[in-house]
Amino acid sequence: MSAQPIPAQPSSTERKKITLTDLRRKKEQGQPITMLTAYDYPTAKALDEAGLDVILVGDSLGMVVLGYPNTLQVTMEEMLHHCRAVARGARAAFLVGDMPFMSYQVSIQEAVRNAGRFLQEGGMEAVKLEGGRERAETIRAIVSAGIPVMGHLGLTPQSIHQLGGFRPQGRHAEEARRLLEDAHCLQEAGCFSLVLESLPHRLAAYITQHLEIPTIGIGAGAGCDGQVLVTHDLLGLFDRFTPRFVKQYAQLYPLMRAAFAQYIADVQAGTFPGQEHSLEMNEEEWQSFLRQAESLSPKWWTEVAVK
Ligand code: KIV
Repeated sequence: MSAQPIPAQPSSTERKKITLTDLRRKKEQGQPITMLTAYDYPTAKALDEAGLDVILVGDSLGMVVLGYPNTLQVTMEEMLHHCRAVARGARAAFLVGDMPFMSYQVSIQEAVRNAGRFLQEGGMEAVKLEGGRERAETIRAIVSAGIPVMGHLGLTPQSIHQLGGFRPQGRHAEEARRLLEDAHCLQEAGCFSLVLESLPHRLAAYITQHLEIPTIGIGAGAGCDGQVLVTHDLLGLFDRFTPRFVKQYAQLYPLMRAAFAQYIADVQAGTFPGQEHSLEMNEEEWQSFLRQAESLSPKWWTEVAVK
């Protein structure tokens, strides 16, 4: 049985721009917030047209698009390049740019400047950064420059070496208490929302219920105010591994590979391009061209080339 097509929500031309007020209202009214990642124009456009609330240009870019082993090598320039493409594709969704490793850890001044670049040069409307209480002062400075900040707690991929790999967090009581304290610190520092990654679902729900700002979960259960996934995981486009918490809505990688193999076979067999893919030239113009071509002196192009 073929899958029933799911109607897209009102297209982005009919949809009002999503703002921080809408996200806050969604939490108050218990309406789930939807967030996914995008790194390019067509994906941003499709997500926006489907009715997504928030597009995150995640530094997962490094792994799923640029082929790095983790997110640590991603640079500000790479992030801004992809943010601009996403900003050109999206109209209604709220746009968040992920601050890459070492763009906000060295000094508060540098962090504010880099956060500003996401808005000025990348077309984003907010930034996201990883970490708990140790980031509170930096977040306060960015927010007081007028830049909305989304926090990120739990499995924070920029700290994988410190965390000992991509492992769930907050499974022991003391660690869980620390995460709750961190969540409160980030809210106090001015974050408008928090990503909670790879946490036990009861802990994520508890944190969510005790915060005024919305939480967006990834591998943190259904008790968060919203959900996010890496779009390449959702589409089955990332072939290295699929985290347990991912639901794959499509398997595009094998489809892509099959389409490429078919193209290669068609070109090799001479079945592409066919007549329907070729441009026609008016017969009179063609005959005129042939007469002109045949009257050219064989030495003509050599003389032009040496001039
Ligand atoms: O970089 C990213 O895509 C993220 C999400 C997983 C939240 O930080």
